[in-house]
This record gives sequence, C-alpha cells and structure tokens, in this order.
Amino acid sequence: ATVAIVGCPFSGGQGRAGVEHGPNMLISAGLVDQLTSLGWEVHYESQQSFLDIPYNPSPASSPQATGEAKVKSNDGKEDLVQRLPDPDIGRMKKPRLVSAVNEKVAQEVGSIAKKGWLPLTLGGDHSLAMGTIAGTKSKYPDACVIWVDAHADVNTPLTTDSGNLHGCPVSFLLGLDGTDVEPFNKWLSPCLKPEEIVYIGLRDIDAGEKAILKQHGIKAYTMHHVDKYGIGKVVDMALDHVNPDRKKPIHLSFDVDALDPTVAPSTGTPVRGGLSFREGHYITEAVAETGNLVAVDIMEVNPTLLDPRSVEKTVAVGCSLARASLGETLL
Ligand code: ARG
Ligand code: MN
Ligand code: MN
Ligand code: MN
Repeated sequence: ATVAIVGCPFSGGQGRAGVEHGPNMLISAGLVDQLTSLGWEVHYESQQSFLDIPYNPSPASSPQATGEAKVKSNDGKEDLVQRLPDPDIGRMKKPRLVSAVNEKVAQEVGSIAKKGWLPLTLGGDHSLAMGTIAGTKSKYPDACVIWVDAHADVNTPLTTDSGNLHGCPVSFLLGLDGTDVEPFNKWLSPCLKPEEIVYIGLRDIDAGEKAILKQHGIKAYTMHHVDKYGIGKVVDMALDHVNPDRKKPIHLSFDVDALDPTVAPSTGTPVRGGLSFREGHYITEAVAETGNLVAVDIMEVNPTLLDPRSVEKTVAVGCSLARASLGETLL
C-alpha cells in the first residue's frame, strides 16, 4: 500500500509562530524511513509550498507585512513575492490566507486519495483539516471522521471568540450558519453531516460550541467519558456511532493537544487532563485495525515551544501516532 505525506507548513489559523515547522521536524525525525519499514511505499518529495499565496503567512500575532517581500523558497532561492493585505472579515483572522491554503490542501489530498493512496497530512495548525477532509470527501463521499482533540474546533465565524480559524474547521465542513462566506464559499461547500463525525478527548469546549454540538446532535466523547468507560469502550462506541457496519472509509484527524501536556507539551493550546500516551495510541491502533482508514492528519506540533526535551517528546509522539495509525502494532 502507498502513503503520500503532505507536509503543510502553516500557522495562519492561529496566533503562535512555530507550528509551521511541525512537518519538517516530523520528517527530520525519520518518519519516511519508519513508515517504509512498516512495509508502506512512501511518497514524499518535499513539503507543500504556500509561498505562491499572496498573503502574509506569519501568524496573527505578527504585524501584517504587505508589499514586496523577500521569501526563500524550498530550493533555497530568494524570490520577491507580492504580499497583499488580509484584514479580518467579521471576527475571522487571516481569512483569505486560510482559505487559499486550504483550497490547495483539498486539491492535494483529493488527488492523492484519487490515486488510491493514503494521504498523511502533517500540520501545521488544525485549520488545515478544512482542506484535508474536503479532499477526502471528494474521493469518498461516505467517509466518516474521527476527530481526536482537546477542542471541538466547531466555532463558526459568528461564535468564535478568538477569531482563530483553527478553532473553526468543523463548522465549515458541516456548513453551519455563518460559514457561507467569502472567500471560503468560492471553493468549499458543506461536505460533512453531523452524524458523520465523532469526537474523542474533548475537555475545552466554548459555550457557543456546546450549543452547536447539542443543536446538531454531534456525538462527543470527552475526557469524562474516557475516565468513565475506559478508552477501549469509548472507541467502540465512537465507531458504532459513525461506522456501525464498519464499512465506511475513515478519516482520522488527530490534534496532538488531545494528549496530556506531559505527553505532548509542544503545542499551541495545551489543556491539562488529556489522553495518556497509551490512550492516544489505542485510538490510532483501533482505527488501523478496522482496515478502513483512508486519511490521517497529525496536527498542531509546534517545535518552537518550550525546551528541547519537550520538543523531542512531542515530535516523537507525533511520529509514533502516525506509525500506529498505519498499522505498526497490528499482528
Ligand atoms: N476554542 C478555541 C478557539 O476557538 C481554541 C481552539 C483550539 N484549536 C486547536 N486546533 N488547537 O479559538
Ligand atoms: Mn520560524
Ligand atoms: Mn486542539
Ligand atoms: Mn484541533
């Protein structure tokens, strides 16, 4: 079987610099060889370049640089690139940049899936799941989503307090009120039904998000449920909900902040009380075991946060989750 790694050096969906270095760190840690050793044919030439997108790629916290900007492309060449302003639209920060990047990611993931390969997307911030899931759905309209995260990422442009679009990808995929907005509606149409997604690991949900989950009957297993039932039962129940006959393709979107900060410290929005190392891996193993996995996202590894030991730990667990999803521990 063939896996194609889609490295997405992108941080525009949130305000902390550094998460754009996640993909190269995961690759430098040896992910390509590790997956090859598992028996996969691995395609990876270089990470995606979003430099052709004419908006300032630095995160929301940085000043908006516009005009001519010198940028180093992947081959090391310096290029003069136009940088257009990307002012907020309503509460949304960097909407044009996030939209354009995700349009490209959807294309890439979709074309990989259409070859019958499994796209493994390395983030980058979790706004990228707009693109990855749209891409998966273009090939597999009946695909379901298992979203592993401390957060629900289901804010809409109307409910978001932060304005950070990494807190909003699910609402765009569902087509909730307020998401039919430019520039997103130029390329993204609702492709996910509320009953096609299930959450595991939630513990930091905004009030507006709670109302959305309730209103649309979206199934969520929080850390409370993990404590109450144990991870084995939670994953069974999650699969029963989105995939009762175990016949549908599965897209796994894994935000490393689902893990406890002691396990994955180097991430932009850590929340205490998360999944243990084993609980996180159990989810990926159980999904691998279904034989229905068609796409994986490993998101929000920020190798510029905290100390070298924390970075190493977080990168290692990111690689380990990717391997487990691709069957490392299956006998
Ligand atoms: N709910 C918060 C927000 O809307 C936090 C989202 C965190 N998302 C993430 N992908 N880490 O900003
Ligand atoms: Mn940097
Ligand atoms: Mn999160
Ligand atoms: Mn997330």
